[in-house]
Amino acid sequence: MNTDYKTFWRKSGLKKNWGNIFLKIINQHKPKVFLEIGVFCGVTARNVCELLNKIHSGNFKYIGIDLFGNKASSDEKVPNYLKKQNFSNPFKTLIYNLILRENLNSYESVQNFLKKFSRNVTLIKGNSNHILVNLEVKDIDFVFLDGGHSFDTVFNDLNLLYDKISLNKGAIILCDDYEDADYIKGVKKAVDKFVEEKKLKLELVEKRFAKIII
Ligand SMILES: C[S@@+](CC[C@H](N)C(=O)[O-])C[C@H]1O[C@@H](n2cnc3c(N)ncnc32)[C@H](O)[C@@H]1O
Repeated sequence: MNTDYKTFWRKSGLKKNWGNIFLKIINQHKPKVFLEIGVFCGVTARNVCELLNKIHSGNFKYIGIDLFGNKASSDEKVPNYLKKQNFSNPFKTLIYNLILRENLNSYESVQNFLKKFSRNVTLIKGNSNHILVNLEVKDIDFVFLDGGHSFDTVFNDLNLLYDKISLNKGAIILCDDYEDADYIKGVKKAVDKFVEEKKLKLELVEKRFAKIII
């Protein structure tokens, strides 16, 4: 199966080879019901949909949660790229900011970008710590946790997810930014505490992704 990550001329949290490494993990597990927390501009979502569509011949679900411009929690450091839509490529600035005036991290933009998979995709706008309380997640077999990166947000997300998917033996929660970015400390602390308390198995992938096996 082709696991080449494409950026579709948008912005993505998975740069260079990270996208390919990520898709290889997805291809290994072949989930049918995928949840991404932190959709950003939808690039990873689109890559996941393209891959799962091929693997399961169209029979898969993708659920994505993002603030999509809503206010982040008070303990969360909002990265600059979310405050203002900057591009290093001047053509992108021209097209997205001046001609189309499109905010790539808006609900509408991501929904439009994923419209090829509209039958499979559910996008939810809001804070994951609130949304997960009522979300029906029992069939989810793979979570990519890449939303808020503070200790509290990650720890709450993990516990809310666990309460719902702990019966899905073999389900995976893959956390981004566990170790590669030394300016982000909250993810590692939250994952380590959660795994220890719940006595779960943790595997590190390329010192960046923390794979928690339920
Ligand atoms: C690092 S980006 C995600 C990158 C994306 N997964 C990708 O691969 O391109 C983080 C995203 O999480 C969202 N976010 C931050 N805190 C959140 C929260 N508490 N609930 C939901 N989304 C959140 C931000 O709006 C942002 O779009």
